[in-house]
Amino acid sequence: MGCFAFRSGKGRSKSQPAAGAKTAPAKSPPASDSSGGGGQRSKASSASASTPTRSIQELSDERGAQRLRVFDLEELGSATNGFSRALKVGEGGFGSVYRAFFRSAGGGRVFLAVKRLNQRSLQGHKQWLAEVQFLGVLEHPNLVKLIGYCAVDSEAGKHRLLVYEFMPNKTLDDHLFNRAHPPLSWRLRLQIMIGAARGLDYLHEGVPEVQVIYRDFKASNILLDAEFKPKLSDFGLAREGPTEGKTHVSTAMEPPPPPADKKGGDGRPPPSAKR
Ligand SMILES: Nc1ncnc2c1ncn2[C@@H]1O[C@H](COP(=O)(O)OP(=O)(O)OP(=O)(O)O)[C@@H](O)[C@H]1O
Ligand SMILES: [Mg+2]
Repeated sequence: MGCFAFRSGKGRSKSQPAAGAKTAPAKSPPASDSSGGGGQRSKASSASASTPTRSIQELSDERGAQRLRVFDLEELGSATNGFSRALKVGEGGFGSVYRAFFRSAGGGRVFLAVKRLNQRSLQGHKQWLAEVQFLGVLEHPNLVKLIGYCAVDSEAGKHRLLVYEFMPNKTLDDHLFNRAHPPLSWRLRLQIMIGAARGLDYLHEGVPEVQVIYRDFKASNILLDAEFKPKLSDFGLAREGPTEGKTHVSTAMEPPPPPADKKGGDGRPPPSAKR
């Protein structure tokens, strides 16, 4: 998707950066640091048709750049009424999610979901980057659609946000475990399970160039649209599958960094600290 027919409530130009802020390049998704969703992988032109041959970073540079819109921070602030608590629809490990209101080019109202990284989140940037790279490339009716992103580094701090299609029926977790919702019918449960399985099947087999290990399959990551069709969300922990000649990839969780007071003066852990 090259251009978007959205304007925020106050109608700022999408290319205008927030005052005093630096935005990510407008034409290309952010490049991975070596720890992002996908590292570089050489092209294996001799690989069989079913062998993944491209890295997610290569695919993201190619396709994500066309599909994803770069939002500026002020536009998202305006669309969420200053990240108002009244528009907050949920909170997870990454940060808070808001319902955001935009105007379409035709003057109608469009609701999107804006997820804002909690600035204290330790793994935040890495997960944000993986989400941008994977969801900039992947496209399936049972995966949530990422519309765009915002990355701003300013004196006030680092801001990382994601903008998705809005899913009005919350998550499967809400319908299974929150008594405020009536029990789901057997028919809807089956519809949700089959849709979620189709989403997983697409991740494993549906993209010829890359296989995706999702690693976060749980009821709170199965979002439900207006017809209770399920969409997998949260690709911050996703990894690329094994490439030709490798039989496995490590999906071990990384240990959190040591607390600040246990670090040496240079910010590194003391020599005695186990890694
Ligand atoms: N695209 C969306 N549309 C509407 N609501 C959403 C959307 N994405 C997330 N939400 C809401 O925001 C809540 C928080 O989502 P988030 O993915 O940040 O955390 P989580 O999945 O609940 O927890 P975890 O951090 O363990 O993944 C969800 O439970 C859901 O209700
Ligand atoms: Mg989630």
